[in-house]
Amino acid sequence: MHDPAPVALPRFLTSPTPGWTTQADVLVVGSGIAGLTCALRLREHVDRVLLVTKTELSAGSTRWAQGGIAAALAPEDSPEEHLDDTLVAGVGLCDEAAVEVLVTEGPARVRELIGLGARFDTDAAGEITLTREGGHHRDRIAHAGGDATGAEISRALIAQLEAVRADPGIEIIEHALVVDLLTTADGSVGGATVHVIGEGEIDGIGAAHARAVVLATGGLGQIYSATTNPPVATGDGMAAALRAGAALADLEFVQFHPTVLHLGEGATGQQPLISEAVRGEGAVLIDEAGEAFMTGLHPMADLAPRDVVARGILERMGATGVDHVYLDARHLGGDFLEQRFPTIVARCRELGIDPATQAIPVAPAQHYASGGVRTDLRGRTNLPGLYACGETSCTGVHGANRLASNSLLEGLVFAHRIAEDLTQRLAAGELPPTTTTGEGSASLLDARHRSEVQRIMTHGVGPLRSAESTSGALAELAALAELASDTAEPGPLSWETSNLLHLGQALATAAYLREETRGGHVRRDHPEHDDAGWAAHLLQVRDPGDGELAVIKLDVDLAWPQGDEDAADDDPLEGTQ
Ligand code: SIN
Repeated sequence: MHDPAPVALPRFLTSPTPGWTTQADVLVVGSGIAGLTCALRLREHVDRVLLVTKTELSAGSTRWAQGGIAAALAPEDSPEEHLDDTLVAGVGLCDEAAVEVLVTEGPARVRELIGLGARFDTDAAGEITLTREGGHHRDRIAHAGGDATGAEISRALIAQLEAVRADPGIEIIEHALVVDLLTTADGSVGGATVHVIGEGEIDGIGAAHARAVVLATGGLGQIYSATTNPPVATGDGMAAALRAGAALADLEFVQFHPTVLHLGEGATGQQPLISEAVRGEGAVLIDEAGEAFMTGLHPMADLAPRDVVARGILERMGATGVDHVYLDARHLGGDFLEQRFPTIVARCRELGIDPATQAIPVAPAQHYASGGVRTDLRGRTNLPGLYACGETSCTGVHGANRLASNSLLEGLVFAHRIAEDLTQRLAAGELPPTTTTGEGSASLLDARHRSEVQRIMTHGVGPLRSAESTSGALAELAALAELASDTAEPGPLSWETSNLLHLGQALATAAYLREETRGGHVRRDHPEHDDAGWAAHLLQVRDPGDGELAVIKLDVDLAWPQGDEDAADDDPLEGTQ
């Protein structure tokens, strides 16, 4: 087998010349917990914030989050214990400083969220009820509406935003897809091209200039045929950042959620999630024969970290020759299930499965990108003026496998930090308005190839991988890239398809190179951890000259800039642009 040819990406997606322009201090892209929190905080201190979101404010992944938000809120719990669980789940690749930020600042941020109107479930005494999910040694997951935590957080934050919509200091544009980042000759980011389905002056492609851009566009789940992510999760922010020269890290660590409702062979698109909290309340995974197979595989059995459970299921599926296992919650009783998991029970019943009387068929499916645009502790990327937050970012918090319910928390905590950092920098006159160039290669893959990209990624770079499967995927993706041209018809579907292709190529490259099994990255041909060879991160950066993706392998202790002024000099990526 030959090593795959290097991947080269265009600088831009082909798009029409901007027909309108606008100017802001900060452009925030995305309206999940990260984008909304950041925009709301910024508008308190910054003159002009522009928030753009791809469809409606509530359409992103946040509103689909079921289980909850993890934080050491119970008197018997502590940030140190939350830190320990997060580090174990991350299998040696978390950045401990980033995790420390997450777990120590998390509880205060969650209380502020409650202050903003988010209503978490409480007991008779009014105390927040906490549950457990995989990898946690304590009950520390706050939830809302039983299993509708993200929907409640999204509701509360959008209500805050609606209350200030008329404020001249903030502008909100919905149905606005970010196509590419605008950069200066030296690589600083000074805005983005945005496609708006609107009316009047702001319609079609425009240029939104800003002193800083915060990408909070969520994940890339639609890169696979089946995912728990909503249709908008096409990795637009990550892909635009990669083309502009930002470093992406840890892309190979895709989290496959163990318990996604199995809808039969060939089910595609967004799939119903069966929250890990169902196992937290006592449900058990069983195989066709009714054997509880996680017992004996890990001391935490069904509540082992997510990657361990997903692997346990895949092994059992392989051993029994079937394409799913079952989650048995029958012993919890219909009344309890309806009250604690109303969304899940209703969805299952709609689809003809009653969790009160039947074991629920489940199989792993794509759920979360643990990697993304690499940031420091203030959310800064290697490109001046560019920040990334939430699932779009790679803060170092998740390592090789995200601990359950740490994602909403990460979006919340780091959005605050970004807003704080930007407030200080803008007040100090840093990040002055810039002149962007718009020069560079452009191409586009036609939207009709989208399901092909998804098929290639699912078969070649899915939950079980090998050198053969990943190199095969790279060859097939390269053939699709050959079909991309600067004459393809621009439009949201082809921009999204091209983003999936570009991220697919980067993800498959990292998955091919990492010759070990760790966290969400499972190699059949390298089934063990290899700490001697792979206690390292893979970073990918596009060369501004020839467009090739350089892959940088960085020792785990070197890979993360700590975000204080002195440490910036030690960043191995300093000066890559
Ligand atoms: C779940 O409810 O199982 C998902 C929670 C998460 O992804 O952290």
